Amino acid sequence: MAIQISENGRLFTLHTKNSSYQMFADPFGTLLHLYYGKRTDGENLSDLIFRTDMGFSGNPPEAGSDRTYSLDYLPQELPSSGVGDYRDDCVRIRHADGSCAARFLFDSFQVSKGSYSLPGMPSLYDTDAETGETLTITLREACSDVRVQLLYGVFEQADIITRALKVWNGGQTPVDLEKVLSMSMDIPFGDFDMIYFAGRHAMERTAERLPVRRAGVRIGSVRGTSSHQYNPAMILCSPNADEDAGDCYGFCFVYSGNFTASAQQDQRNQTRIQMGIHPDFFSFRLAPGEVFCAPQVILSYSSRGLTALSRSYHRILREHMCRGPWKHARRPVLINNWEATYFDFNREKLLAIASQAAELGIEMLVLDDGWFGKRDDDNSGLGDWFVNTEKLGGTLTDLSEQIHRMGMKFGLWFEPEMVSEDSDLYRAHPDWALTIPGREPNRGRNQLVLNMARPDVRDYLLERLTDILSNAKIDYVKWDMNRSICDIFSSCSGTERTGELYHRYVLGVYELLEGFLARFPHILLEGCSGGGGRFDAAMLYYSPQIWCSDNTDAVNRLSIQYGTSFFYPVSAVGAHVSACPNHQTGRSVPFRTRGDVAMAGSFGYELDLNQITDEEKEQVREQINSFRYLYSLTHEGDYYRLTEPGKDDFMAWEFVDENREHAMLTIVQTESFGNPVPIHTVVKGLDPAKKYRCLMNGAVRSGASWMGAGLTPDRILKQYESLVIEFVRES
Ligand code: GLA
Repeated sequence: MAIQISENGRLFTLHTKNSSYQMFADPFGTLLHLYYGKRTDGENLSDLIFRTDMGFSGNPPEAGSDRTYSLDYLPQELPSSGVGDYRDDCVRIRHADGSCAARFLFDSFQVSKGSYSLPGMPSLYDTDAETGETLTITLREACSDVRVQLLYGVFEQADIITRALKVWNGGQTPVDLEKVLSMSMDIPFGDFDMIYFAGRHAMERTAERLPVRRAGVRIGSVRGTSSHQYNPAMILCSPNADEDAGDCYGFCFVYSGNFTASAQQDQRNQTRIQMGIHPDFFSFRLAPGEVFCAPQVILSYSSRGLTALSRSYHRILREHMCRGPWKHARRPVLINNWEATYFDFNREKLLAIASQAAELGIEMLVLDDGWFGKRDDDNSGLGDWFVNTEKLGGTLTDLSEQIHRMGMKFGLWFEPEMVSEDSDLYRAHPDWALTIPGREPNRGRNQLVLNMARPDVRDYLLERLTDILSNAKIDYVKWDMNRSICDIFSSCSGTERTGELYHRYVLGVYELLEGFLARFPHILLEGCSGGGGRFDAAMLYYSPQIWCSDNTDAVNRLSIQYGTSFFYPVSAVGAHVSACPNHQTGRSVPFRTRGDVAMAGSFGYELDLNQITDEEKEQVREQINSFRYLYSLTHEGDYYRLTEPGKDDFMAWEFVDENREHAMLTIVQTESFGNPVPIHTVVKGLDPAKKYRCLMNGAVRSGASWMGAGLTPDRILKQYESLVIEFVRES
């Protein structure tokens, strides 16, 4: 029983295979958070909260003269706002009289089979492998007609609990929502570190770890997208937690826009964790009868360290978030012309790349930016989604058919959400761009953002995408988004609703993506935002893979892919072999290493294949064969991080298949010294009782020995050299 209800419907315990989560509606109606951690039997743990009279922590009227009952320290599921809890609130309502007070009281609950869904937004869905269960707890605001429904989803076998909430205006007058986070939770005991993934364009998702104290740790985005700067996911873990041991809690936001995520200790050293849409630039007017839905957060707990936590996320995102025919199908090995040609291409150049690619066994040509409108650099043309037949030396129909005749699939780049001022679209519809009347707009990559909240903008884009895709043989689309958003002003719904725009923008993007996939369900969609600026769980609902970073330097990719791996599965990570010296860093790395690093992702090439040596061409053939042969191991197997960036002189990671019959370990030497000392790596995930042959040296040992004693490579690696070592089970 995943959802256990007791104490006359006031004690709620959610159970997964290895965790339990408990809440209690106390006699005053406050929904207390009692526990989240190792699995329990569901007994009432409310005596863990020891009440004391805390000075300057006041008491709600219902507590009468009991000075020990204070909302200012009680651990809560939906903290009340403006009525005596001085910590961060979760839902802030501005009532018609201007007050913002809200006291949320337990009203009722409902348990249902199956997962909940949220209108217009992605969320985890049920599959044959596992059906979720849903607990809905309704709280009413004490002095108004606002109701909040807290939604809890349980995927018992997957060790996943989800949270989301809905705010309903049941009154006769509109209310303004000034803040609606998706979740708040107070962990009453323990010190924690927060691990988050920060960076910048072309250097995203590098892991950082900070202790959570009373000053708190807070990340977020107000860029309109989930952003390169902070990924919308965080881990709270015990200070001694590592890959293999320690308490870890994951929080992964299923949303692609502004977000906030924080952890902060209060005066009693309890940790309040929050996640949701960023309250800055946010407000939402709820008319009588209207409902606002906050996006989903995916929670998981592991008592066995970070590797186990990551495994739960990889599985749930792969199985219950990614959709469509490409969910498990092997993705084609692609060649993308961007770093090969940038905007400087014509039909001959493309065909030369394509024919060389086909000869080497590459399965798809992706034509990147520059095929439409007037677009020979990044200053013009966005929005004019009409084929530039002059540049392509013919129609896209011809080109795509020619590519197919070579035995390859064909993919195309779009950046639907953008418009260049130098475009026919902008000249015809300047009001479609996000600008503030009377204010010169901020430009990013010299382009403006279309107001995706407008139905006419979405209709135009769907019509253009449909026209292009129906008139050529297109198997794949790269959906890009190349700037942060500002200049928010809603010309459609009036100034008083400008605070809704960032959110309505995101909903508009989801609606367009949904409409697009409904028309072209066979398309393999790759998400992109200057690489990984919108690398989030919500985008995986539409695109099972996302271009991980505009940085293709294999060594920088080690830390980018390392950070990405905490939440996102390898199958989601777009990774390509590119030319050296690398265009972003100037570094040269052996061709083999570039392939081995990209192999931990949805694999492809992004260079002019006519410029590489015969030896490198031979390696391309080998890499493609390896990618095909290792696909189920790398894309569906278990992933282990064996090192941390900057800690050792090498990086190593490993894949083990579900049956623990086959493992592959990759090492890249990142530093090198004179008179080198041999390196040594641990091996993980094997069956201790079974024998494994190491294909590097033929040695056969038990899994216990390999995992206990580890492995010393049989040669010294030079800087940036890589080594791939397979283990095959013998018994
Ligand atoms: C973004 C993408 C690149 C490429 C360019 C084209 O930066 O991340 O891969 O598609 O746009 O302009």
